[in-house]
Amino acid sequence: MGASNQDSYKAGTLSNMPESTQRPKWFKRLIAGTAVCLFILGAYRGSKLGPGCVSGHHRHRVGSIKWSTPSECSPGTDCGSAIVPKDYFDSSAGTASIAIAIFRATKSPKKGTVFLNPGGPGGSGTRLASQEIADLIGEDWDLLGFDPRGINKTEPQIQCFDSASDVNFFVANTVLQQGFTVASSSNLSDPAIEAQLVEQSREFLALKKSQAELCARNMGDELRYMGTATVVRDMDFMAKLFDGEDGKINYWGGSYGSILGAYLVNMLPHRAGFVVIDGIADPVNWSTEPSHKWPINWLASTEKTYRFYLETCSRAGPEACPLTQYTDEPYEEIEARLESFFDNLAVAPLPVPFAFRPGFLTSGAARALLLMYLERPLQWAESALALSQAVSGNGTLLFNKLATPRPPSTPHYDLVRLGVTCIDSPPPATRAEVPTPEDLAAEFIKTMRKVSPHFGASVSVGEPDGGCQYWPVQGPERFAGPWNATLEWPMLIVSNTMDPITPIESGLRINSLMPDSTRIIIQDGPGHCSTAIPTPCTVKLVRGYYAGVLPENGTTCDTSYAYFPDTSKSDSTLVGLNAEDKRLMDSARAVGELLQDIRRA
Ligand SMILES: *[C@@H]1O[C@H](CO)[C@@H](O)[C@H](O)[C@H]1NC(C)=O
Ligand SMILES: *[C@@H]1O[C@H](CO)[C@@H](O)[C@H](O)[C@H]1NC(C)=O
Ligand SMILES: *[C@@H]1O[C@H](CO)[C@@H](O)[C@H](O)[C@H]1NC(C)=O
Ligand SMILES: *[C@@H]1O[C@H](CO)[C@@H](O)[C@H](O)[C@H]1NC(C)=O
Ligand SMILES: *[C@@H]1O[C@H](CO)[C@@H](O)[C@H](O)[C@H]1NC(C)=O
Ligand SMILES: *[C@@H]1O[C@H](CO)[C@@H](O)[C@H](O)[C@H]1NC(C)=O
Repeated sequence: MGASNQDSYKAGTLSNMPESTQRPKWFKRLIAGTAVCLFILGAYRGSKLGPGCVSGHHRHRVGSIKWSTPSECSPGTDCGSAIVPKDYFDSSAGTASIAIAIFRATKSPKKGTVFLNPGGPGGSGTRLASQEIADLIGEDWDLLGFDPRGINKTEPQIQCFDSASDVNFFVANTVLQQGFTVASSSNLSDPAIEAQLVEQSREFLALKKSQAELCARNMGDELRYMGTATVVRDMDFMAKLFDGEDGKINYWGGSYGSILGAYLVNMLPHRAGFVVIDGIADPVNWSTEPSHKWPINWLASTEKTYRFYLETCSRAGPEACPLTQYTDEPYEEIEARLESFFDNLAVAPLPVPFAFRPGFLTSGAARALLLMYLERPLQWAESALALSQAVSGNGTLLFNKLATPRPPSTPHYDLVRLGVTCIDSPPPATRAEVPTPEDLAAEFIKTMRKVSPHFGASVSVGEPDGGCQYWPVQGPERFAGPWNATLEWPMLIVSNTMDPITPIESGLRINSLMPDSTRIIIQDGPGHCSTAIPTPCTVKLVRGYYAGVLPENGTTCDTSYAYFPDTSKSDSTLVGLNAEDKRLMDSARAVGELLQDIRRA
């Protein structure tokens, strides 16, 4: 790779682009339209270009790529930034710089580029470009991870707070970090429960208003360009950049990445190529309901997952899962003990003096952490230990999971998620639609009654949406369907039967809206996204899809996993697999853990 200095811009300097990068058509047009560069190109044909093409006002040319030096990229990747229009409907808005990292195809012929999204919204995608992803998708693709709008190294970047420590101080011990405490989930008719939720919602909305006003002051109009529809246009723009004018947009995304994928295929159906979405959130709900109404949709499989967790714990016995008192204890008894633990915490939070940060554990936080653990079956053994220690009065292990301080050097943690969701969700049409604290409380109670008595008020910690009525701007565009596009090559949907936050119902909904243009495959097991406990079956179907083999709609993959393992035994899941399958499974698990890590950030 030719780039030697991150400041020199490589627009027009063909010889400085990575050798494997092909010259797309836009590029030829760009050069043809630039007289000075054309001259220099002629004069220097075949040799390195001088700086004439790359300095001055050309530095930020739309359609150029600024390659970083190899030492700045993670091993095995080419990285840099693609310069794109900040606003696809208004060129006077200037440019945005999208951070990218490409893990190159190692097999030829190369088929094209697959764009990657880890979820969030707010997850940095550049970290995904890796051999592990190549194992899941195939070695004959360039795998392009990018930081979506507002996020990490992409500019403009969301920076509403002045520093990461300001973020830490702002959330500490508030409802944003401690979650919503429900006095008891056993009698939701008790007016005290509503009163308590209204009071916490007042605090919640005041915090959200503070966040929004901070963003308005520190970012202003720069906040307008973070929405999912704009990110779809970025992928379209970059696909043309890397694969030529006719290059399709190929894509892989999990969790929120399923929203981005659904927007992609429905906004630009003729541009969609191979698209896989895993861990499905409902795009209709997302784009047409205000964000406080999303959780009732997301929690459709949560109780089923929780019951499976408790039953598996009971079967594993008290050594492996200390939440059960004896092997095969009825799951209702474990559930009842945990409920009385939460109810006690609701009256008296547990002091936690010796955690990363001294503090106290509330019922809201404990429930939110249990929900987070339900998304991660590989951590169920740890969760049982952390919860059982907390039940016996030592909340350190559990609280640490909540209150790990954000590293001071990462100001971009910030409000990345709101930056996306507040552009995507519909603004209230009338004053009456602006949610009041009473509306938020009523929605929690409805969610607890209808779908999840244990976790109906618990998503706010992991999925920090809300307060978009205070958001200072709207985006240049907001996509809200239709969701029934016809595709040349069907999109592949992957859903788990027990995903506690992106339920299979959402995958089936997309499938029913696009019956001929999607196929759904089902992983019969718990966890958020199939990568939570990958199986060779799912991994091979996805790999096969990118190689041109469409699975039958409704194909089901069984899971087998020792959720509460006896650590003295080796991992039974991998027993009997050949070396190649073992490698695929290791990669899939590594991707699963990376996704969790990125989303947590
Ligand atoms: C931002 O991107 C860099 C480079 O890909 C990565 O090392 C870092 O972990 C990312 N930060 C976050 C918070 O994801
Ligand atoms: C639930 O609370 C309401 C209001 O306090 C009360 O009237 C009702 O008896 C309670 N139900 C149960 C089963 O305790
Ligand atoms: C959103 O989800 C909820 C719960 O599943 C459902 O009642 C509602 O109709 C959905 N709204 C839309 C617009 O899909
Ligand atoms: C509480 O739990 C933590 C983490 O497991 C452990 O390090 C610590 O020793 C425990 N404290 C007491 C008093 O048992
Ligand atoms: C797609 O959905 C839109 C809006 O719901 C509807 O008007 C249209 O008829 C549908 N198109 C097809 C081909 O079903
Ligand atoms: C695809 O398979 C799922 C699961 O079996 C089923 O519910 C759905 O109706 C099927 N979709 C179509 C379009 O046949």
